Amino acid sequence: MAVAVPSRQLFINGEWKEPVKGKRLPVINPATEETIGEIPAATAEDIELAVDAARRALTRNRGKDWSRASGAFRAKYLRAIASKIVERKTLLAKLEALDCGKPLDEAAWDIDDVAACFEYYADLGEALDQKQKAPVSLPMQTFKSHVLKEPLGVVGLITPWNYPLLMATWKVAPALAAGCTAVLKPSELASVTCLELADICKEIGLPSGVLNIVTGLGPEAGAPLASHPLVDKIAFTGSTATGKAIMTAAAQMVKPVSLELGGKSPIIVFEDVDIDKAAEWTMFGVFWTNGQICSATSRLLVQESIANEFVEKLVNWTKSIKISDPLEEGCRLGPVVSEGQYLKMLKFISTAKSDGATILCGGGRPQHLSKGFFVEPTIIGDVDTSMQIWREEVFGPVLCMKTFKTEEEAIELANDTRYGLAGAVLSKDPELRERVTKHLQAGIVWVNCSQPCFCQAPWGGTKRSGFGRELGEWGLDNYLSVKQVTEYISDDPWGWYPSPSKL
Ligand code: NAI
Ligand code: MG
Repeated sequence: MAVAVPSRQLFINGEWKEPVKGKRLPVINPATEETIGEIPAATAEDIELAVDAARRALTRNRGKDWSRASGAFRAKYLRAIASKIVERKTLLAKLEALDCGKPLDEAAWDIDDVAACFEYYADLGEALDQKQKAPVSLPMQTFKSHVLKEPLGVVGLITPWNYPLLMATWKVAPALAAGCTAVLKPSELASVTCLELADICKEIGLPSGVLNIVTGLGPEAGAPLASHPLVDKIAFTGSTATGKAIMTAAAQMVKPVSLELGGKSPIIVFEDVDIDKAAEWTMFGVFWTNGQICSATSRLLVQESIANEFVEKLVNWTKSIKISDPLEEGCRLGPVVSEGQYLKMLKFISTAKSDGATILCGGGRPQHLSKGFFVEPTIIGDVDTSMQIWREEVFGPVLCMKTFKTEEEAIELANDTRYGLAGAVLSKDPELRERVTKHLQAGIVWVNCSQPCFCQAPWGGTKRSGFGRELGEWGLDNYLSVKQVTEYISDDPWGWYPSPSKL
């Protein structure tokens, strides 16, 4: 059934609001190149209103405000959001597929994860009521100390287009559970489902101003949010270049940031693997969500002794992937998100060719699709470590590969990157897997798989992939500050300055 993109406004202080300057941006279906709707485009004036609403919601009514309410009070709203997400799953999944081009089956999976993530942080937020005050043991009997975990305040959440609603949820759910209020700025390339989240917040009666959702361009809406003096923290997922700009803006106010940036993650396939299983995980690692994943394992390292057999299987299997409109039954690869990304993919591939690499499969637009931003799943061999295709994040369905002889060489090649988000090691030998895991410079290591992600486990990188961890308890800590409370409990005076009466 066809779905229409609902027409929405900015969501500020619990109300729909036309952007102050009245600007709007088109919603383009990347599979057809057609404009299928519009989103509002905020500017600094709207960000001002949204931050003001979030500030007021933080401490509006003594005792009943968001930041000082109990975790159990806030959890009720998160659970109500989760159940509305489940109720609207079919629509949300279709909108996600239309807006960012991911296959409908993947979009449906994302929406399940969104609901699960709201539920999970409802539980963690509720548990915070017991953990909010934690004793600290001191070496002196005359003092007693404890820590209070408190919400950081108003947080700015800036998110990308590859998992539009899920990346927003990874930030919104823990932020709200912790007692923060928020301004969410989704990517201009895929904001539709985040505006549906706004509709859900309105429907369940989330107290006004607790979550404000302002769509718009990065420089016009994202930048004023990042540099706003009344925003207490910025959480960002996106490119390393934008991450640097956000960090620079935040530095002016010594504002904490958490950054989840790009990657160029390795997948290491040792000679003892089951070739079929390893080939499928290698494909999933880079073709799922069209390779538009920060953690994509886009550099394949395969042991020389099995390389021919492995690559032949991988290439043949890759050629059979169903590429189609994301809404078509059985689609496993849709278009990339935008014309800009499409042209960027083709440029990466042509540079690899002119650098002397070999295209083993794919390399261009699929012949059966004349419209849409489709790029074939592509595997590139004869790659040298100095080439752009080895060094830079492509963020598309492009895998480059090299062979290795020894474990040491594999580790050296795997760590030969300025990024450090993820890595995968595939082998039947548990000791080898453990050794390699310890040596990989990465925030996430997958063993005998690539990409599965659970909201209970920490997510984030090292090196230029950023810092801070999302998900799990670490995700909640992202939005909490720790206050030390120390009490003098002795009946005796402190006695440092001799009392004048005794002099
Ligand atoms: P981007 O990093 O520019 O956009 C991400 C978010 O930041 C969007 O909401 C955008 O509006 C906002 N933004 C942009 N400039 C800003 C600024 N000056 N201040 C505050 N917010 C700003 O990513 P873009 O341009 O959409 O994609 C370009 C490349 O970035 C991709 O090809 C990929 O390599 C990488 N990327 C990585 C992602 C990841 O998950 N790590 C996600 C999206 C993109
Ligand atoms: Mg779009």
